[in-house]
Amino acid sequence: MEAELQHLQTEARADLAALTDAPGLEAFRVKYLGRKGLCTTVMRSLGAVPDAERPRLGKLANDVRQDLEAAFAAREAELATSQAVSGAVRPDLTLPGRLSPFGKLHPVTQVMDEVCGIFAGLGFAVAEGPDVELDYYNFEALNIPPHHPARDMHDTFYISDSVLLRTHTSPMQVRAMQKAAPPLRMIAPGKVYRCDSDITHTPMFHQVEGFLVDRKVSFGDLKGVLSVFIAKMFDAKTPIRFRPSFFPFTEPSAEVDIGCVICKGVGCRVCKKTGWLEILGAGLIDPAVFKMVGYDPDAYTGFAFGLGMERIAMLKYGITDIRLFYENDLRFLAQF
Ligand code: DAH
Repeated sequence: MEAELQHLQTEARADLAALTDAPGLEAFRVKYLGRKGLCTTVMRSLGAVPDAERPRLGKLANDVRQDLEAAFAAREAELATSQAVSGAVRPDLTLPGRLSPFGKLHPVTQVMDEVCGIFAGLGFAVAEGPDVELDYYNFEALNIPPHHPARDMHDTFYISDSVLLRTHTSPMQVRAMQKAAPPLRMIAPGKVYRCDSDITHTPMFHQVEGFLVDRKVSFGDLKGVLSVFIAKMFDAKTPIRFRPSFFPFTEPSAEVDIGCVICKGVGCRVCKKTGWLEILGAGLIDPAVFKMVGYDPDAYTGFAFGLGMERIAMLKYGITDIRLFYENDLRFLAQF
């Protein structure tokens, strides 16, 4: 029994020295000093010891217990102070608070807000419409009947024969004109979808559609509005040119180029050495569209334009791969 006591004492002291935290201390207390702990077990076994030996062994057992209790208290105090010093127990209230990082708007959203802000300043109202659109609004009412070759320009995601993901924001022209009589001055920002993916195309991208309908609206009005927009969006001195083009829903139609914002017109890789960058499609609204929505084409004229947001964001920030916008890499996004 004497050897057993000695063994208990050495083992317990080694355990105690290895302890580092409060849960460890508690486990030690239960194992050695608790009501069902090892010290108590040894005490109980004193009953089986011969009478002559009992007083000496009893005292020895008591000494061991007291020694362990004192050592336990000392270790407890020691750990408490060392944890207080390392700050683990008492928080340092003088430390500055931990900042949570601020979220920011996505660069494409920022550009879209800026575009909408400029047109809102010119008196355009903002309207939004569905991403899942009817073939009727996306094509038919825009003077693109079934089998029209212009449908090939849009790599359409069809949901059924008559339902699709809109390939442009132009259907908002029809939805807005159906709802209200002229005069009308609106922009429609939103997502559009085409089955296309490379360094300048993503299957989902953003457009802002703009249109104005009134009596005696001319191509000159379109030029004036777009010139103001481009001066505000880029630089007041940015040159603009209108190139004749074709869209089924405008007549005449044009594509609008601006002087390359990267090389200032000298010629570079981005503008393919032409000095010009195409940034939007536009034109005077085709009378066929007016007929579709019940506007009198003899009384009203109007202009429309469609702008690609990713394209503008890429030019504004000098980004060469459109896919960067949708990889959600915070190292990229945090720069805006
Ligand atoms: N919807 C056309 C496209 O996505 C862009 C466009 C061209 C919009 C001419 C217009 C417009 O409003 O007048 O390719």
